[in-house]
Amino acid sequence: MEHLIDLNNPEQLRKGDPGQMLEALAGLPQQCREAVKLARAKEISFPQTFQHVVVTGLGGSAIGGDFLRVYAGQKSRVPVMVNRDYQLPLFAGEHTLVLAVSYSGNTEETLSAYEDAKAKGAALVALTSGGKLAEKAQKDGVPLIIIPAGLQPRAATGYLFIPSLIVLEKLGLVPPVTSDLEDMIETLEKMGQKLSIDIDETKNPAKQLAKLFYHKIPVIWGVSGTTETTAMRWKGQINENSKALAYFNVLPELNHNEIVGTEAPEKLLKEVELVFLRTEDDHPRVQKRFDITKEIIGDRVSGVTEIWGEGKSLLARMFSLTYLGDYTSAYLALLYGIDPSPVHLITLLKNKLAEV
Ligand code: PA5
Repeated sequence: MEHLIDLNNPEQLRKGDPGQMLEALAGLPQQCREAVKLARAKEISFPQTFQHVVVTGLGGSAIGGDFLRVYAGQKSRVPVMVNRDYQLPLFAGEHTLVLAVSYSGNTEETLSAYEDAKAKGAALVALTSGGKLAEKAQKDGVPLIIIPAGLQPRAATGYLFIPSLIVLEKLGLVPPVTSDLEDMIETLEKMGQKLSIDIDETKNPAKQLAKLFYHKIPVIWGVSGTTETTAMRWKGQINENSKALAYFNVLPELNHNEIVGTEAPEKLLKEVELVFLRTEDDHPRVQKRFDITKEIIGDRVSGVTEIWGEGKSLLARMFSLTYLGDYTSAYLALLYGIDPSPVHLITLLKNKLAEV
């Protein structure tokens, strides 16, 4: 199929990307280093002990909470949940830490959940680049972490995830995170050298994947407790950057339902590019499940690509795969002749809602 752009021509890539999504992606490791510094500089303490953590946010601001939930699932005795709603669950109260996260600071669901947290007597921390959330937190004396503005929320994942993790560390809810964070950032730095716009398609896995996904439907399968958020992120980034359909699911659950849905419609299944996101952290039985799943259904779809996370820690592996997906979605956008940055339909919807 003919492409609208040559992925090996950096000039063409820059021209097709006026919002500079690829530049923002190249800056992710540095963004992570800055996020560590600004979160470490913030004093945060509360008199009470915590029984639960709720991250409340939407879209690009909520996904950091999902990464936190997966990480905490392996490292913390306190459950972390992500709330994408106007209200908090009924259990929220004095022993709940609520992280209200909104990149713009103006997302109505998050502002409403912030008020609900206050009404329920929960401990609040706000993470934002400004907007109404920053105003409210300042007025209420709520600890406020301000991150730099000017990015698309989904390009600010370092700023939106790392401070939340460091807040949990400061409150003793996860063990020290410095070595995992260093491993993650070093891995991103190494990967950045393979994925950047100057690297030829023959050596650049993100460009290769973008070609594979072109005019196909990517279906991303991750694993509960390790790459579940990463798989969701791939889907979201293909939706928002490439403006294209994509789906995700997780093992082992999908072995109990979605795997059966690979018989019909046969013609459409031949347009599906399956991706398995794998890590050494996956349960040994899940490793077997991947192998057997591929054996059983591999020839019913267009193709199956298995990708392993890089780095020494789960955190590094989750984010190395995420970085690959982010770059892939930006290159795919450019293949379609689409500007990766604007999300006109989200803006339109928010504007229409503001009128009613
Ligand atoms: O990627 C996007 O632009 C959206 O998913 C936003 O993150 C979402 O609409 C919420 O906005 P904000 O991140 O400013 O709270």
